[in-house]
Amino acid sequence: MSDSNRPTVVIGVTGCVAIYKTCEVIRLLQKRGVRAKVIMTQHACGFIDPTMFRSLTREPVAVGLFDDPSDPIHHISLAKEADVFAIVPCTVNVIAKIACGIADDLLTTTALATIAPIVIAPAANVNMYEARVSKENRDRLRARGVRMVEAESGYLACGDEGRGRMAEPADIVEAICAELGMSRDLEGKKVLVTAGPTVEPVDPVRYLSNRSSGKMGFEIAKAAARRGAEVFLVTGPVALGDPAGVETVRVETACEMLDAVERRFEEVDIAVFAAAVADMRPATPASRKLKKGSDADALARIELVENPDILATMAHRKSRQVVVGFAAETDDVVENARRKLRSKGADYIVANFVGEGGAFDADDNEVVVVGADGDRSYPRLPKAAVADALFDCILGDR
Ligand code: CTP
Repeated sequence: MSDSNRPTVVIGVTGCVAIYKTCEVIRLLQKRGVRAKVIMTQHACGFIDPTMFRSLTREPVAVGLFDDPSDPIHHISLAKEADVFAIVPCTVNVIAKIACGIADDLLTTTALATIAPIVIAPAANVNMYEARVSKENRDRLRARGVRMVEAESGYLACGDEGRGRMAEPADIVEAICAELGMSRDLEGKKVLVTAGPTVEPVDPVRYLSNRSSGKMGFEIAKAAARRGAEVFLVTGPVALGDPAGVETVRVETACEMLDAVERRFEEVDIAVFAAAVADMRPATPASRKLKKGSDADALARIELVENPDILATMAHRKSRQVVVGFAAETDDVVENARRKLRSKGADYIVANFVGEGGAFDADDNEVVVVGADGDRSYPRLPKAAVADALFDCILGDR
């Protein structure tokens, strides 16, 4: 990714009437915060002048293998820049070349050089599209992991009717975004997330709390919002700003967190309880600061009462909601998580390994997602990727 904030899609454009839809694909990608760069074949330039794509993308458009004197190995730099390489539209000829490993221009050379996921949106006349060799070539690429956004049936530019019309821009963008991990598969859903620690006052200056940076919960809220959900985040005190597009409520104590959760729980589809809630709170917080000398007794014997278990309370009230809890474990991770799944009444428990170094302030996490139907283990991943894996899990099971 050359642009640190935005994922980059390199779009290969081949010579075909459907090229006019590529402009819309670029526009839709940009709306979703994706940077697009275009490579055109010589034939594509016969349909549209590169100026069109240069204006739309505000990036240079590459055509010839050697036409950027500042970059002697342009196909390699483009191949490395791509988070996804998409070919929109892709003629049967270019599909055939890529299937055979032929690399005789900038586009096909980049296709061979890139290790990024490839998305292809083919377009052709019905007979060319349905030709046995074309089908075989598409199957070969699919078998190699290329995501093929199959053409649709309809009226074709040549006057024929049948399969060969390029897929709609929105469907192509969906396929590209899925490869970028930016799927909108939570569109129309409401997601509630708890995050961070709670703090339970002893007196106006002291409190009991748990260690928690809030990073995991915030990444879950951000992932849900990225994937199209309406998101409510209830967080204890953390040093993180409100995530964009997420309704964030800041609370201090477990009782306040429960209260904020209860206000929203009824309307949500998925509730993820990632907060490190303090299990106990001082029974009667002092209204003035306790002094070491005169109040030594009170400080030495703080009477504690149990906090409500927010996860268990809500899980036992659930109707259609999918309820997810977390469990920080050092030993017997899966067995402990499975016990917690039953005792709390959750649908999933995400068990963190808190080995040496712990998972508390880290930017990555190693988890097992334990559900009624089995477990899924993940390697150590950035917390954003753990969040996506969790939603993949939930949506995949339903
Ligand atoms: N949780 C909660 N309310 C509490 C305590 C915990 O909602 N008062 C939720 C947390 O958000 C998390 C899960 O329950 O999803 C953690 O369960 P907990 O019993 O606290 O597990 P551990 O902290 O791992 O505790 P232990 O292993 O000691 O039981």
